[in-house]
Amino acid sequence: MKIVLLGATGQTGQPLVRQALASGHTVTAVVRSPGKLDSLKKELSGEESNRFHLVGGNIFSADDLASHFQGADAAVSTLGFSITDRSTTYELLNTRFF
Ligand SMILES: NC(=O)c1ccc[n+]([C@@H]2O[C@H](COP(=O)([O-])OP(=O)(O)OC[C@H]3O[C@@H](n4cnc5c(N)ncnc54)[C@H](OP(=O)(O)O)[C@@H]3O)[C@@H](O)[C@H]2O)c1
Repeated sequence: MKIVLLGATGQTGQPLVRQALASGHTVTAVVRSPGKLDSLKKELSGEESNRFHLVGGNIFSADDLASHFQGADAAVSTLGFSITDRSTTYELLNTRFF
């Protein structure tokens, strides 16, 4: 299955990346800071690396997300926001895009 994951750098997202790859899925992680997954990338086997696509993207851009969601079988979000973001970010994500 081709999975697009938002929130891959987080404490829920990183184990999910590992589990999905170990189960044979292809994972595209759309993140704002790709460097945060450098150590995870080093853990992957060559075969898993071939199924892992790490891309920079803006979760607030519907066009950006649509381009990454194209052709995917599933989109999974493990996004989480600090309480200080809640009034703006939470509202945007849960009422506009999903
Ligand atoms: N951990 C738990 O035990 C637990 C239990 C129940 C429910 N949950 C829920 O599961 C979700 C994830 O939790 P978590 O503990 O994995 O959270 P986390 O470690 O804080 O990860 C949050 C993820 O969201 C991303 N993110 C936040 N703001 C962003 C923005 N403006 N643009 C792009 N990416 C953004 C973070 O990216 P950056 O790395 O770039 O900041 C990170 O990948 C939350 O909704 C949480 O409420 C978690």
